[in-house]
Amino acid sequence: MHRKLPAGGRAEPSEQHHAIPASARGSSRRNVNDPEVKRGEQLFSQANCSACHVPELRTGGKTAIPAAADLPIHAYTDLLLHDMGEGLADGRPEYRADGREWRTPPLWGSGWCPR
Ligand code: HEC
Repeated sequence: MHRKLPAGGRAEPSEQHHAIPASARGSSRRNVNDPEVKRGEQLFSQANCSACHVPELRTGGKTAIPAAADLPIHAYTDLLLHDMGEGLADGRPEYRADGREWRTPPLWGSGWCPR
């Protein structure tokens, strides 16, 4: 069965699998009601880490895969480049980033790192 795409045409067979595999969905937040996790969330926000490591983004409303539309993702990034100063500069420009700029890495899944 072919589904109509917003732009017309027919979905490729691979697009007919609406279910998004867990491996493509990224890491979910865990133990959200644990007091230690709540305290960490509070500190993260108080220290303004969330200014760049944005706790929640949403996928766009229009996607070729309806199941992937308008979903919250907790990637903890703004996906942007920031000038992180001399201390972190490696002096190596890469595409649009100059030698002092870094893209905010997603922090999702960090909770799995051993302490
Ligand atoms: C101005 C934006 C900004 C703020 C505010 C910020 N970060 Fe970051 N963070 C970055 C960028 C950009 C990098 C990547 C730096 C690099 O690659 O050298 C980074 C890297 C990291 C990493 C390493 C991740 C990895 O995969 O290597 C951790 C952990 C982290 N930040 C945690 C925090 C915490 C905790 C706070 C608050 C205390 C914070 N950040 C505040 C932008 C920010």
